[in-house]
Amino acid sequence: MSSGQETDGDCWAECLDVAVQTALRAAQMVREAVNQEKQVSSKSTPTDLVTEADHQVEELIISTLREKFPSHRFIGEESSAAGEKCVLTDSPTWIIDPIDGTCNFVHSFPMVAVSIGFAVNKQLEFGVICHCFDGTLYTARRGHGAFCNGERLKVSKEKDVSKALILTEIGAKRDPGTLEIFLGNMKKLLSAPVHGVRIIGSSTLALCQVARGAAEAYYQYGLHCWDIAAAAIIITEAGGCVIDTTGGPLDIMSRRVVAAGSRKIADYIVQQLQPISYGRDDDDC
Ligand code: IPD
Repeated sequence: MSSGQETDGDCWAECLDVAVQTALRAAQMVREAVNQEKQVSSKSTPTDLVTEADHQVEELIISTLREKFPSHRFIGEESSAAGEKCVLTDSPTWIIDPIDGTCNFVHSFPMVAVSIGFAVNKQLEFGVICHCFDGTLYTARRGHGAFCNGERLKVSKEKDVSKALILTEIGAKRDPGTLEIFLGNMKKLLSAPVHGVRIIGSSTLALCQVARGAAEAYYQYGLHCWDIAAAAIIITEAGGCVIDTTGGPLDIMSRRVVAAGSRKIADYIVQQLQPISYGRDDDDC
């Protein structure tokens, strides 16, 4: 993998190239699987879905990357669901969502992505998100900008929340208490009033809309590290901010996020939100 003369930066550039090729192959696999009969089951709740394809795509991604980078660590959505430790160490670590938008995939609703993030010393180095159906490929590398199909991404310049389009996702919990807080948070923002609130069924693709300036902000309780890893570096490199719902620094294991084109809008959202408790991805590790 390394000539021994390369800097870490050069080394991660090679990893990014491999990540892009692997994400494109994985997206092709998702396209082939979407029209076939799906075996659907559930994980943490009846609405937290998984299919055979999620497992097969994750297996393709991890086996490809592991062959190239045998000393690296892997956090994958389905491996974690199967009981593998979900812990971020200082080692080079790949953070993978093989099919983000599994519920959309089950219904053939075309908002589905493959997401591959990469962290070293617990710092995100690059991210790749491939929309499986419209051919858009989002990439970013720390200090090198964010791109969509080779075009530089810039977040929205809008700082007035009353002119903002805001995205969120529902999360897997649907008990009455959670739904009341979820709807209460949305009601507060709708009555700000913001221009609109949208839910598209894929955290990673929603976050990419913030990176490309098509939406001003995103917030969610209940997402996972594989939903946020690649997207966080893409938004940051596009000039946006990605923070915790308390207003502090992002912790990708915390299952909470506010992302926005401007800190002003992010802070406004932080002030409106009532928390929903989901625990942490690295609980029990
Ligand atoms: C989920 C989707 C969903 C969001 C969840 C995610 P998955 O990812 O992005 O929209 O509400 O929090 O975990 O399970 O489809 O990979």
